[in-house]
Amino acid sequence: MKVFVAGATGVLGRALVPQLVVRGHEVVGMTRSASKQDLVRSLGARPVVADALDPDAVAQAVASAEPEVIVHELTALSGKMTMRDARHPERFSGAIMTNRLRTEGMDHLLAAGRAVGARRLVAQSIAAFRFARTGGPVRTEADPFDPNPPAALRTAQEAILYLERAVTTIEWGDGLALRYGGFYGPGTGISLAPDAVMAGPIRKRRFPIVGDGGGVWSHVHIDDAAAATAIAVEHGQPGVYNIVDDDPAPVREWLPVLASALGAKPPRRIPRWLARLAAGEAATAMMTEVRGASNAKAKRELGWKPRYASWRQGFAQGLG
Ligand SMILES: NC(=O)c1ccc[n+]([C@@H]2O[C@H](COP(=O)([O-])OP(=O)(O)OC[C@H]3O[C@@H](n4cnc5c(N)ncnc54)[C@H](OP(=O)(O)O)[C@@H]3O)[C@@H](O)[C@H]2O)c1
Repeated sequence: MKVFVAGATGVLGRALVPQLVVRGHEVVGMTRSASKQDLVRSLGARPVVADALDPDAVAQAVASAEPEVIVHELTALSGKMTMRDARHPERFSGAIMTNRLRTEGMDHLLAAGRAVGARRLVAQSIAAFRFARTGGPVRTEADPFDPNPPAALRTAQEAILYLERAVTTIEWGDGLALRYGGFYGPGTGISLAPDAVMAGPIRKRRFPIVGDGGGVWSHVHIDDAAAATAIAVEHGQPGVYNIVDDDPAPVREWLPVLASALGAKPPRRIPRWLARLAAGEAATAMMTEVRGASNAKAKRELGWKPRYASWRQGFAQGLG
């Protein structure tokens, strides 16, 4: 099939495009920068340059590709987040831009897809920090979102909800929203690279276990997330799918294992009140209250099976 990947140069796009090519698809990869066209070519795709927030440029780029399937992997999260940003993630410029890419950017791709007669759209959503913070530790796609998220996460929650609704309700084709777990592996924030965004604070012991460390996180290796996406390009009913590993686990379990895999000393422990003071309400909730996600639907309906079924194996062997 002809597949148009918006965000071909991002961490997921770079893992996805070669998998699509191996599966026999003809891929066109979108980037904002003329200078990244060689990167897109090296992945096996034809590059096209367009700004996702410019509706005419997107329409033209998509029209030139005439795709059957469009994939939205646009985020703007690669900027450095400071401690101040962690207190107020809603003010972080990358988060504000990501919200625009999930709303305006999504709309432009949908309009362009409809105009060229595309029949399928697959878009990036997230599983983390989304679910109501009551009840059991692991949630499915049928479970409700947090009706009262920490104030700092509210705008992101709204943008994600907007994207999921927009994609899964198209009438001119099949729309699938993939709620990825936290990425780890080469090119992500959790990798062996010296500049990996999340690995840095863990190595410096600035990523502590807060309170009882009861926040449940769902992880997924970047290559497994890409594999699920390649499958979703080819089949699966419209709807949302959690793309996470088999092993949602509380921070107190996975963080020491990750620290050890990164060659760091064990994480410190700090009380909730101190975390609230230092890092704010949203970060504290992420460390103590959030719920994980179940991948049963993706396994059942997409036939996807993560190669790294658990972060236990993935942190040991797949950090890259
Ligand atoms: N679930 C998760 O855990 C998750 C999800 C996403 C990201 N992250 C993390 O966030 C960090 C950064 O992610 P990333 O490396 O994918 O980088 P990124 O800077 O977020 O960029 C992602 C993609 O979006 C494209 N893009 C952004 N704005 C655009 C615009 N206005 N027009 C066209 N394209 C646009 C970029 O293309 P060009 O730059 O080529 O224009 C790139 O291909 C990584 O550490 C990653 O692990 C985590």
